Amino acid sequence: MCGIVGYIGKSEALPVLIEGLKRLEYRGYDSAGIAFQNGKGIEIYKTKGKIKDLVQIIPSQSNVKVGLGHTRWATHGQPSTENAHPHYANGVAIVHNGIIENYREIRTRLMNNGHTFISETDTEVVPHLISCNLRKQQSPREAIFNALKTLKGSYALGILLEDEPDTLYAVRKGSPLVIGIGDGEYYFASDIPALLPYTRRFIFLEDGQICRLNISGVKLEYLEESRPIEIQSVVKEVDIPPSMAEKDGYDHFMLKEIFEQPRAVRDTVNEWIDNPLGLLEEFKLTRQDLVELRRLHIVACGTSYHAGLVGGYLIEKLTRIPVDVHIASEYRYKEPIIEKGTLFISITQSGETADTLAAQREAKRLGAKTITICNVVGSTSAREADAVLYTRAGPEIGVASTKAFTSQLAALSLLGVALGFVKGRLISEEIVTIKRQLSKIPMLIERVLKEDNYIRELASSLIYAKDFLYLGRGINYPIALEGALKLKEISYIHAEGYPAGEMKHGPIALIEDGLPVVVLAPVDELFKKTLSNIEEVIARGGRVIAVTDEPAYLKDKVQDVIKVPSTYPILSPLINVVPLQLLAYHIAVMKGCNVDQPRNLAKSVTVE
Ligand code: AGP
Repeated sequence: MCGIVGYIGKSEALPVLIEGLKRLEYRGYDSAGIAFQNGKGIEIYKTKGKIKDLVQIIPSQSNVKVGLGHTRWATHGQPSTENAHPHYANGVAIVHNGIIENYREIRTRLMNNGHTFISETDTEVVPHLISCNLRKQQSPREAIFNALKTLKGSYALGILLEDEPDTLYAVRKGSPLVIGIGDGEYYFASDIPALLPYTRRFIFLEDGQICRLNISGVKLEYLEESRPIEIQSVVKEVDIPPSMAEKDGYDHFMLKEIFEQPRAVRDTVNEWIDNPLGLLEEFKLTRQDLVELRRLHIVACGTSYHAGLVGGYLIEKLTRIPVDVHIASEYRYKEPIIEKGTLFISITQSGETADTLAAQREAKRLGAKTITICNVVGSTSAREADAVLYTRAGPEIGVASTKAFTSQLAALSLLGVALGFVKGRLISEEIVTIKRQLSKIPMLIERVLKEDNYIRELASSLIYAKDFLYLGRGINYPIALEGALKLKEISYIHAEGYPAGEMKHGPIALIEDGLPVVVLAPVDELFKKTLSNIEEVIARGGRVIAVTDEPAYLKDKVQDVIKVPSTYPILSPLINVVPLQLLAYHIAVMKGCNVDQPRNLAKSVTVE
């Protein structure tokens, strides 16, 4: 997944483009480039590496009023200057986020017609196609339309034409693209954090829409037809302060976002805590829907999938409705069985994850009502689902998801309460108790965050470990998975999460002297079983790091105990995950890893 940005207006374009790319760097960071009109034609500067490397090669240039930029996560063609965007051909410069699936046949056809290519990318066919059409005297809009209708796959494109020096085009199909509306200046970007310093008025482009940005204004229409779309009817005011997309004094976005979790959970909970049943109205679930509700499918990827697993435990406990939790890339190809009374829920921070979107579309095609739990207003998932439950975590920039995850758990808790009530499984006293406990979670997370110094100290003794095991039971088994994912994706240390009860079925063979084994050990009805697992690990030389609300039970057995506050058992994942986030963060930082932009990863996987 990549980041694209464009600007046209009365200010200097280069600083806007560079700042925008810096704010989009979490989307891809192996190479970058910009193209701009210099009054005589298009200039392009691009390089392998990061935005800071790009800044070094751009000459200080003034009076540049139109330009576009790109920061890349390589899909086709290794990270290199040649493969970096923008790509150019015969007066057409473009930046692209997405995948063109039929680019090979197009490239072969163009090469047979005398075109030469510089890069290995799929993207480079686009400027060639558009420039061919322009040479046939097609208008820019026709040339773009006729070029794009030959493409299969997904794209968010920024287009700059040599012959239209005061115009940009932005068009999307399957990859996110927002238009920023300023005061006599206009922007496009893959995501709103890039534009928050300049505007809070956005148009979220829909698939098949093209926007012409000119110094006199923007024009929006569908590519297929020239029916213009009234701008005021689609402009949305987004209430996110620019600081939400800045580090605010923290060393990394990830650390800031870990410490933002009390606010993020509070904002997510407060929207519905007084009226959880209002959620079901928001979901447009009729009484009949609720009476017929027989099964839930929860579908997601990565950390969001782990949230789904917690949600599955929690909703089954509160409603006694079966919940099947699936990894999206599996669900979309398994011919899912959607019976009458099945409710489909996708969980996606970005709202742009290709596999999750495909699963959601498949469920919808099969007749399921689709709900998405999503953190980005106007994202594809939010626009395509039948209903949206927004988490209020704010922009999550760190590639490793933290505040979005706990906000997803909060949202799922509210949903469980609402469904539990309407299914007659929860009496009002229980609802009051859960709501009260849920309202306390932000304060309890604050208390866990106060353990940060101890956790950093603990981390310093673990940075040379080559493998970790994470163990949990019941609703905390997914937290073992999540703790392992956090560690491996930012520190590159191999880690596996397992149900603690599985140890005897294989993983116990891994235990050897000093192997770190992180154990979620809340004192709940499974504690005694977990204690046996802890003793099995210790007996074989493993080093247990326990997360528990009752250290006294472990003090003469376990050396490293992270104390967390007690809470309602089904809410304990919201608390227990926080020390694991901090542990992973500190180990990664001490190992010198790039915590916010881990190797090979991107914030949102918008390609399969
Ligand atoms: C988690 O830390 C990762 N960044 C990744 O697993 C992520 O959760 C996954 O790609 C799903 O993203 P989404 O929530 O935006 O759909």
